[in-house]
Amino acid sequence: MDLIGSSVRFRALLNDVELVAPVDSAVLIQGETGTGKEAIARAIHEASPRRNHRFVALNCAAIPSALLESELFGHEKGAFTGAWAQTRGRFQMADGGTLFLDEIGDMPLELQPKLLRALQEREFERLGSTQTVRVNARVVAATNQDLGHLVSKKLFRADLYYRLNVIPICLPPLRDRVQDIPPLTEFFVAKFAARLNKSIDVIPDEVVAALKAHDWPGNIRELQNVIERAVLFSPGSVLRLPLGLKQTVKQSSEIAARTLADADREHILETLNQTNWLIGGQDGAANRLGLPRTTLVYKMRKLGIETRRSPRTRPIRQLADERRFAAANC
Ligand SMILES: Nc1ncnc2c1ncn2[C@@H]1O[C@H](COP(=O)(O)OP(=O)(O)OP(=O)(O)O)[C@@H](O)[C@H]1O
Ligand SMILES: [Mg+2]
Repeated sequence: MDLIGSSVRFRALLNDVELVAPVDSAVLIQGETGTGKEAIARAIHEASPRRNHRFVALNCAAIPSALLESELFGHEKGAFTGAWAQTRGRFQMADGGTLFLDEIGDMPLELQPKLLRALQEREFERLGSTQTVRVNARVVAATNQDLGHLVSKKLFRADLYYRLNVIPICLPPLRDRVQDIPPLTEFFVAKFAARLNKSIDVIPDEVVAALKAHDWPGNIRELQNVIERAVLFSPGSVLRLPLGLKQTVKQSSEIAARTLADADREHILETLNQTNWLIGGQDGAANRLGLPRTTLVYKMRKLGIETRRSPRTRPIRQLADERRFAAANC
C-alpha cells in the first residue's frame, strides 16, 4: 500500500516499521483518530515474513461485548442460542498471519484474561468447547485512547497492557508533521482526480499554505476528505479549497498577520523608549534598527505610533497600555 510522507518523523516511523516487521512481538500503535494506525499495522504485516498469510482486522468497539468472545475465539455448534454451526474466530483466521485488534481500549475487562493467555501461550478454547486450539498469529493492537490512563483507572488490565505494549509505536498528529501535507495532498489529488475522472494540474501555493495552516483534528483522514471535496468542486484544472476550510485558514492567517504587526510595533516602541524617542541621528532609533529614518517614520505611521510626541510629554501609562495591547494580541 502507498504510505506517503517526507517529514523526519514519518521517515523515523517507516524505519520502525522495517525494524519491527520481521519479529513476532506484539505491537501497540497509539495515535489520534485518522493518523494512520491501521495503515501502519498493514504495512508491518506486508513487510513481515507473514505477508503471504492473512491480515485479519477486528474493531473491538464495533462489536457488542457479548459477541466479542465468539468473534475473537470462535464457538462450537450449540454453544449459545443461534450457534447453528461451529465457527472459527478471527484469531484462528489469522493463523500464520497478523491479527489487528483495533480500538483495543474497548476490549471488555472480562475478556482480557482470555486474550492475555492467547497472547502468552498462543492457545485458547472456542466458546462451548474444552478442546484447546493452538494458533500462531502475530497481534498488532491500536488505540486512540491513553491505555496507561485506563490502566491507572482499573479499566484495562495492567498485565495485558504490558503484554501488548512490547513494541510501542506512536503516530504523531498531522499538525506536528506539516511537511507531510504537500506530498499527501499531491497523492490524494491524483487519486481522486483519477477516480472522479477530472484533470487537476495545478495546486496553488496559497492552497498548500492554507492546508498547512489548518489544525487537522481528524488528521490524514480529514485531509483526504477535504481533498476529495476540493477535487470534486474545483471547476477547472486548478485545485480550489472548500469554503469551510478557507474560512478557518483565513482566520489563522489574519491572526498571524496581526501578531507580526504587533511584534513589529512592540520592537519599535522598545527601541524608541531606549533612545528617548530620538528617531534620527547616530543615537536615534532608526540607526539602532538598521533602517533609514524615513522608513522608520513610515513604519511608525503605519503602525499608529505617533512621531511627534516628545518622551517627556508622553504619559508612562499610555506606553504601558500600548505594550499590554501588543502582548495581548501575540
Ligand atoms: N501515510 C499515509 N499515506 C497515505 N494515506 C494514509 C497514510 N496514513 C493514513 N492514510 C489514509 O488515511 C486514512 C485514515 O487512516 P487509518 O484508517 O489507518 O487511520 P486510524 O489511525 O486507524 O484512524 P481511526 O483511529 O479513526 O481508526 C485511510 O484512508 C488511510 O489509507
Ligand atoms: Mg483505525
